[in-house]
Amino acid sequence: MLEIEGLISGYGKGASVLKGIDLKAAKGDRLAIMGRNGMGKTLLAKTIMGLVRPSAGKVKFDGIDITGQHAHSVSNMGMAYVPQGREIFGDFTVLENLRMGVIGKPGLTLDLDRIYGWFPILKERERQRAGTMSGGQMQQLAIGRALIGRPKLLLLDEPSEGIQPSIVHEIAEKLRMICAEEGLTVIVIEQNFDMVEILAERVAFIENGKITGEVPVVQLAADPDLITRHMGL
Ligand SMILES: Nc1ncnc2c1ncn2[C@@H]1O[C@H](COP(=O)(O)OP(=O)(O)OP(=O)(O)O)[C@@H](O)[C@H]1O
Ligand SMILES: [Mg+2]
Repeated sequence: MLEIEGLISGYGKGASVLKGIDLKAAKGDRLAIMGRNGMGKTLLAKTIMGLVRPSAGKVKFDGIDITGQHAHSVSNMGMAYVPQGREIFGDFTVLENLRMGVIGKPGLTLDLDRIYGWFPILKERERQRAGTMSGGQMQQLAIGRALIGRPKLLLLDEPSEGIQPSIVHEIAEKLRMICAEEGLTVIVIEQNFDMVEILAERVAFIENGKITGEVPVVQLAADPDLITRHMGL
């Protein structure tokens, strides 16, 4: 589903932050990417999604080379992105935010019932301004907005950030269920192992612009010291 090879990328004209990333995810995989602050996790997401152009390397999505393609075409090919900080339009209603998930996507209808079935709070709050909701509710909206476009791959950047632990669990369980139902492939960037433990099967660790190792989640759950070691803490 996703194949990344030798990806080198940076911000602006500065030095490269990503110094040769190799990653693979097959259809239906649930992969987490963990790493400390400033290690280039968000830059990796943006480079995969086509928001930042890499200076070298390759990104293949569902067998097609998408390196250097614009985000809107990557999105139309079936990759959805839930950015760090959610980027919900706070002055717009929940419904208006969900509508944005199908804008510019030919052939897609606004299947709200599908999303409301997974996240009933969004139906309850349909007419409410999104900015008045809690962090957890806004995260569900951001995920709903991504899923309404019927993606094959969902890329989430620190979805647990600023959300209370019980809601983190709930969102992780929900995402895991959706993956099982839909055969969706998930790549989740996280620093919170609570989310990773429920949602992912394996973790790729990123440090100083490189993937330093891949470890099954069960192994990390059994030996939490492994996480701190791999994160370089
Ligand atoms: N707009 C920018 N211009 C230049 N450098 C930036 C920009 N945004 C981030 N950086 C730098 O690039 C590096 C990687 O940033 P990135 O946001 O990808 O890290 P991250 O792993 O997502 O961190 P966090 O866990 O805090 O979200 C950091 O050293 C950061 O300071
Ligand atoms: Mg980040």
